[in-house]
Amino acid sequence: MEIKELFDLLNSYTQRTDCDYYGDDAHAWFEYFKEGMTANGAFKMCLIFESLDYVVKIPFSYTRNERENACEDEIKTYESAKKAGVEKIFLETWFIGFLDNGCPIYGQAKADYTVNSLPDSKAKKYERITKTVTENMRSKVTHGMYDRCVNRLWIEMFISLYGKNFARKFEAWTRETRLSDFHNGNIGYRKDKPIILDYNYCC
Ligand SMILES: Nc1ncnc2c1ncn2[C@@H]1O[C@H](COP(=O)(O)OP(=O)(O)OP(=O)(O)O)[C@@H](O)[C@H]1O
Ligand SMILES: [Mg+2]
Repeated sequence: MEIKELFDLLNSYTQRTDCDYYGDDAHAWFEYFKEGMTANGAFKMCLIFESLDYVVKIPFSYTRNERENACEDEIKTYESAKKAGVEKIFLETWFIGFLDNGCPIYGQAKADYTVNSLPDSKAKKYERITKTVTENMRSKVTHGMYDRCVNRLWIEMFISLYGKNFARKFEAWTRETRLSDFHNGNIGYRKDKPIILDYNYCC
């Protein structure tokens, strides 16, 4: 899908419903975007189209034509991660533009799976990759992070693929930024590497 088509599609939806706030309307989005798929959490609507190689994220709460919202928070977090040299763990979020009604929309590379949707065959493969990660190594990383509630296999993949030095840097940075909310819908995998796809929540 070209960018113009995407805008036409989203603008035609917002014209039809004339709504600015989509929080209660996730089902309607799903009905409307038959060719796409929607997923949503507390802060954002996420549209996943077969014909786009990135997802489209729309903050539930925003001011028209202004860039101050949960997706912008992700952009700021990503900038901070870049300064600390830990950005490779994040799927980058970028601003696409404003819809006709002033709603800001954002892009983000597609995750192959969230931890919640990881197929058994992949989990088995990842268990094999992480066989050499000890309990002690895992617990050190988990305890070094600001938010310690993180999926076991994901952390083990993180250690296996990125190593100890990167882990130390990342742990310190999460304590500084207080990045949290690493639940199983917010972390996942892309190209068999662990990634974070939702990172607007720094408390
Ligand atoms: N890059 C992505 N690739 C594939 N699916 C995604 C991507 N980003 C988000 N999703 C899906 O959309 C859901 C909602 O997106 P996201 O987690 O960013 O929203 P949120 O409202 O901030 O969530 P939360 O309730 O955790 O704060 C995710 O749980 C996931 O299922
Ligand atoms: Mg989320």
